[in-house]
Amino acid sequence: MSTPITSTLDPEQQRVAGEALQATVVDLIDLTLIAKQAHWNVVGRNFRSVHLALDELVVVARDFTDDAAERATAIGVSPDGRAQTVAKESGAVGFGAGWQQDTHVIESIVGNLAAVVTRLRERIEATEKADPVTQDLFIEIAARLEQLHWMWQAQLAGV
Ligand SMILES: [Fe+2]
Repeated sequence: MSTPITSTLDPEQQRVAGEALQATVVDLIDLTLIAKQAHWNVVGRNFRSVHLALDELVVVARDFTDDAAERATAIGVSPDGRAQTVAKESGAVGFGAGWQQDTHVIESIVGNLAAVVTRLRERIEATEKADPVTQDLFIEIAARLEQLHWMWQAQLAGV
């Protein structure tokens, strides 16, 4: 079955938006997995608040994964959220194995959020002409992830 779902976009618009959505699906799945890995492995004085904040991030990333994947389907593009694809194509920074100090977890999550948002901003630019509806979704995702980026930084910051 090659193309059972038709698109209202022309082929070039569909290609640009589809590639941007697929890349977003991959980044967000990885972000979900990173946040869960951190949720289980964080230790330190701020264990509880970091542990709970990580699950907030999991829910956000998981919900947006679904939004991006289903926007892809709506424009006739088959999303690929397989582990193999995520491992190969994710643009997130990643997360170390084993127990992790709370302060290090915070730094790592800030870094991962920054990487994902940077890539989203490139896609906001890329989809502006091709598909403003997809662009609108990217803007919504970037806004929420930037809010979390602030909140994660604030956990560590001192003045
Ligand atoms: Fe849990």
